[in-house]
Amino acid sequence: MNQEAHWNNIGSGYDGEIFDVFKSDKNQKLPVYFKKHANALHHAIDFGCGMGKAFPYLAPAFSKVLAIDISTELLSIAKLTPYKNIVYKRADLTSHNLVFPPTDFIFCCNVLLLPEAGKNVAMIKNIYKALRVNGTSLIVVPSLESVMFSSWRLIDWYKKEGVRPEEIPPSELSYYKAGARGLLGGIVHIDKVPTKHYSEPELQVLFQEAKLTITAIEKLEYHWQTEFDSPPNWMKEPYPWDWLIECRKVK
Ligand SMILES: C[S@@+](CC[C@H](N)C(=O)[O-])C[C@H]1O[C@@H](n2cnc3c(N)ncnc32)[C@H](O)[C@@H]1O
Repeated sequence: MNQEAHWNNIGSGYDGEIFDVFKSDKNQKLPVYFKKHANALHHAIDFGCGMGKAFPYLAPAFSKVLAIDISTELLSIAKLTPYKNIVYKRADLTSHNLVFPPTDFIFCCNVLLLPEAGKNVAMIKNIYKALRVNGTSLIVVPSLESVMFSSWRLIDWYKKEGVRPEEIPPSELSYYKAGARGLLGGIVHIDKVPTKHYSEPELQVLFQEAKLTITAIEKLEYHWQTEFDSPPNWMKEPYPWDWLIECRKVK
């Protein structure tokens, strides 16, 4: 898939079309992490900034923010935000020859989603490349365990209403269309787009291979409304989640 064309097309419809992690973060964990790493002397990068939903957290917390995205359309929307300490750059973050300014903090939220595994690894390598020693990155990615659990909840919900698994309309589970290899590779179709999802052990391996030390990995939980239009009242915890990874470049 051509990422630039895809994200340019989403363009101004983005606000409604793309899941808003900041609004949905049920326990408001992201602001806690931003507060923890805020430093008026430090430089930050928003890796795949989109229309700049992270700017209200990053711009006041760091002296300078570099906002990078592949989509000129989304960058032009991001530039409308009022922050004066943000510099914008269009770049393909999977590219091997990017040059970054020394950076203390990188935020990368739902960008490592590409169906081609090698491209996500290339972006993780770029996070390593851009960080100073002792720099930190905060990364949000979709959870494979969560998507599987949501499907189990759906099947359980149907069961409670007397519908057997084989009677569930196939459209309810149409997001698993990548075949066995695709699914084992974490590919689930979100809004018809093949989207990489990660299991926790896979993240441990990928970050270790990228020489980034994971300092925390936890669930960023959302309400069930993010998965189902009208979830029943009894559907409570465990809630669906993305993985939130805090990692550091040690050397
Ligand atoms: C789901 S949006 C997330 C945007 C933003 N981080 C947020 O949380 O609102 C994914 C973003 O990644 C950008 N993106 C996708 N592939 C990219 C690439 N190869 N290089 C740079 N940006 C990319 C898209 O243009 C889009 O803005």
